[in-house]
Amino acid sequence: MKNTLTFLGLESSCDDTGAAVVRHTLGEISDVLANVIEGQTDLHANFGGVVPEIAARAHAERIDHCVERALAASNVALADLDGIAVTAGPGLIGGVLSGVMCAKGLSAGSGVPLVGVNHLAGHALSPGLSEPLSFPMLMLLVSGGHCQFLIVRGIDEFHRLGGTIDDAPGEAFDKVARLTGLPQPGGPAVEVAARSGNAKRFALPRPLLDRPGCDMSFSGLKTAVLRARDTVITDENTLHRQDVNDLAAGFQAAVSDVLAEKTRRAIDIYLDENPTKATLAVAGGVAANQAIRSALETVSAEKGVTFTAPAMQYCTDNAAMIAWAGLLRFREGAQDDLTLSARPRWPLDRLQASMLGSGKKGAKA
Ligand code: KG4
Ligand code: ZN
Repeated sequence: MKNTLTFLGLESSCDDTGAAVVRHTLGEISDVLANVIEGQTDLHANFGGVVPEIAARAHAERIDHCVERALAASNVALADLDGIAVTAGPGLIGGVLSGVMCAKGLSAGSGVPLVGVNHLAGHALSPGLSEPLSFPMLMLLVSGGHCQFLIVRGIDEFHRLGGTIDDAPGEAFDKVARLTGLPQPGGPAVEVAARSGNAKRFALPRPLLDRPGCDMSFSGLKTAVLRARDTVITDENTLHRQDVNDLAAGFQAAVSDVLAEKTRRAIDIYLDENPTKATLAVAGGVAANQAIRSALETVSAEKGVTFTAPAMQYCTDNAAMIAWAGLLRFREGAQDDLTLSARPRWPLDRLQASMLGSGKKGAKA
């Protein structure tokens, strides 16, 4: 195996089409040569959420273009690549299929090896784009579709400690934005509004803190925000800017408190494994939230654990994390062929598959 590997990564599992080129030399930090991302927020804006069919068509139209842009920006020819990594799930199946078909075509035409990557593994290994990964690490993966604590023991070894039993926090941020007239994606908009809000004005719940373990729930919190909003509208006949800011601040504080307390518990379980360099890593779109990030940093400091998080541009969906995860898997001997399937569900921890909706087993959450 060569010391230096250059990988193309493709991402198309939700509403961001991405292509990236990552180069890595053994013993060094990887170099992201290009990281192209084309979002679809405008296409879904009128529908109150991502429309799978629209997303799939947009991915199919844009993915070749993203690949061309990434190769041109990194000055790397297709034939010079050591591998092509692609998100093969979990996600919206039409989008995942667009990426997998594109990667297969590129691999078949060029002879460059193909590596299928689990999108969640991409998030979980993303802190390694900026600093060396140290296993086992505790990972809080928190995004629009997922929320779980994992002990990451190696690049393909994940043990799930718990997670949401209903909505993911990112989904709740998006819903709260819709309820309060803020734009999508909701997370960044709620975060900005929260900076000017009073988090104590509304008494919002901290769900499941009374239950032991690391499971979480965000659906009731969303409903509590809806009720608080409706009370304000009844009292004032409208929703003022300050009301929106206060609702945003109260909601963000509640999410932050729940994540912080559950993280304390997850750290206690993780420390029983006696890691040589105890690390809490947080990844996924919600990890871009400064208030949540700093609450988790405080918990890490309390527990004497090193805190790490990917750079902002690698928190939300991106192809650099897919190229990186594929490259790491390839170094360990993984390779796929043209039989690679696109999987809508694909739990990282095969033994402790996460719950989906009201208790069904699934890869989401
Ligand atoms: O990781 P990601 O790009 O996609 C999934 O795999 O789900 O995460 C997107 C989610 C969205 O729900 C978005 O509102 C949320 O991450 N998000 C944030 C912030 N930036 C993105 N949530 C809270 N605060 C933010 N700054
Ligand atoms: Zn994601």
